[in-house]
Amino acid sequence: MIHKFPTINFIGNKEKIAPWICDNFPKEANTIFDAFSGGCSVSYEAKQRGYTVISNDVLKINSTISKYLIENNSEILDFDDIKMIVTGEPFEGYMTENYADKFFFKNECMELDLYRKNIGKLSSDYKKSIVFALLRRAMIRKMPYSRFNINWDKIVQLRDENYSYEKYKRKRAYHNKSFKTHFLDNVLEYNNAVFDNKKANISLNCDVFDLIKNIKADIIYLDPPYTGTMNNYFEFYGLFDEYITSEKQSPIENDFINKKTSYQLFENLFSNLQNFKYWILSYNNSSIPNKEQLLDLLNKYAKDVHVIERKHDYKITGRDNKETNKEYLFIAKNPSFESTLIKQYESAEL
Ligand SMILES: C[S@@+](CC[C@H](N)C(=O)[O-])C[C@H]1O[C@@H](n2cnc3c(N)ncnc32)[C@H](O)[C@@H]1O
Repeated sequence: MIHKFPTINFIGNKEKIAPWICDNFPKEANTIFDAFSGGCSVSYEAKQRGYTVISNDVLKINSTISKYLIENNSEILDFDDIKMIVTGEPFEGYMTENYADKFFFKNECMELDLYRKNIGKLSSDYKKSIVFALLRRAMIRKMPYSRFNINWDKIVQLRDENYSYEKYKRKRAYHNKSFKTHFLDNVLEYNNAVFDNKKANISLNCDVFDLIKNIKADIIYLDPPYTGTMNNYFEFYGLFDEYITSEKQSPIENDFINKKTSYQLFENLFSNLQNFKYWILSYNNSSIPNKEQLLDLLNKYAKDVHVIERKHDYKITGRDNKETNKEYLFIAKNPSFESTLIKQYESAEL
């Protein structure tokens, strides 16, 4: 069976260029740490190529996607699971109390509350992660612009199919399909994406700065939010973390949004990558720091630094204009890796 990356719909995803990114991984590498894994397109490509993959993201929903697609090697939803999720009476729970007429209509929030309760009855965390990923997809599909920083009046206006048709010549009827319909429409595609690459892959949910010293891998792949672009992931997707936990969530601390502090965050990152032999960073030509600044910074902490680039056209969801963007891949080697390894050998009792 051919396993295909499912439709995730993630702002800033690398789905189209994930093969190019992985083609540039050094040949001798076996393990990769995807430190900002987001919608998991690079982790999934790496898993398909047989690497042992460790995926991490500070948002719970993104780490839930990697639990489903990367760490999970075999579990899928069976017919009874699917039926159980959509069975029962909608009720007024966390989503209704907090988000009725804010992001969805009241009856829709009640439907979400029912499904959230039913998820608790599933027999494993892997099955739960598949359903969370499916409901994420359903919520995104029903949300104009596919992100949760739009005000309610605008949402209602854009979900009006007649208005949408008159203004944009598209009805966008998928905004008004039920969560159940979206869930059932996508469940086979999501099940089919699960596969076993015979490796013990891991999904983590941490701020990268709390984690970096405790992970070891041949390659660290860095795809942070691009400072200066539309990159507020907590605003876009923080609602899903609330759906998972039924609690208000705090914004991301080290979020790469502030142009004044972003350079310092990169410096903190690059100065703490001793555990990885190769460092690979995605960035683009319209973000801060710029290419030269990043090269200077990398050269301070790494050796054999070089950058390759390619065109990457992406469509900003909800807008019709395409932007032409040059995508960079910085590749660097850890200068102290061999000596770190020798030190570890010398101090270990083998
Ligand atoms: C550009 S996206 C990654 C896209 C991903 N490569 C893909 O293909 O879908 C950046 C990700 O970094 C995460 N992030 C932001 N700050 C973080 C931090 N301090 N630690 C870990 N993850 C963080 C965001 O939640 C977001 O998912």
